[in-house]
Amino acid sequence: MPSLMKFLHLAAAIVWLGGISFMLLALRPAAAELLAPTQRLPLIAGVLKRFFPLVWLTIGLLLLTGLAMLLAVGMKNAPPGWHLMFGIGLLMFAVFGHLYFVPYRRLKRAVAAADWPEGGRRVAQIAMLAWVNLLLGGLAIAAVIFFV
Ligand code: HEM
Repeated sequence: MPSLMKFLHLAAAIVWLGGISFMLLALRPAAAELLAPTQRLPLIAGVLKRFFPLVWLTIGLLLLTGLAMLLAVGMKNAPPGWHLMFGIGLLMFAVFGHLYFVPYRRLKRAVAAADWPEGGRRVAQIAMLAWVNLLLGGLAIAAVIFFV
C-alpha cells in the first residue's frame, strides 16, 4: 500500500510538472514563432482546456496520496522535508486555483470575443504563474530529498 501511494504520488507529479515544462519550453515558443495571434491564442486555449482537467486530477491525487504517506507516520514524526512539501504543495494548489479562475477564465472570454491583445495578456499571466509553480514543484521535490 505505501508503494502504491508513492507510485501514484510520483506519477501525478510527473504528469503535472512534465505538462508545464512542455507547454512553457516547447509549445509556447513554437506557437509564438509560427502562428499569428488569431491562430495562436485559440490553440493555447484549446490545449489548456484539455490539460487543466488533468491538473485537477493530479492535485487530488497528490493531496490524497501525500496526506496518506504523511499521516501514516504522523505529523509529529515526519521529517522537516515532508512538512515543507505539504506547505509548498498547498501553495502550488492555490497558485493553480488562481490561475484557473482568474486569467484562464479571462483568456476564454477574450478568445470567444476575438479580443487578441487581451488574450495575449492573459496567456502571459498564465505563463508567469506556471513558471512559479514549476519552480515551487522543484523546491518541493528538493525538500523531500535534502531535508529528511
Ligand atoms: C500538499 C500535498 C503533498 C503532500 C502531503 C506530500 C507528501 C509527500 C510525502 C510524505 C512524501 C515522502 C514519501 C517518502 O519518501 O516515502 C512525498 C514524496 C514526493 N512528493 Fe509529495 N506531497 C505533496 C505534494 C507534492 C507536489 C505538489 C509535488 C510535485 C508536483 C510532489 C512531488 C513528490 C515527489 C516527486 C516525491 C518523491 C520523492 C522521493 O522519491 O523521495 N508532492 N510527498
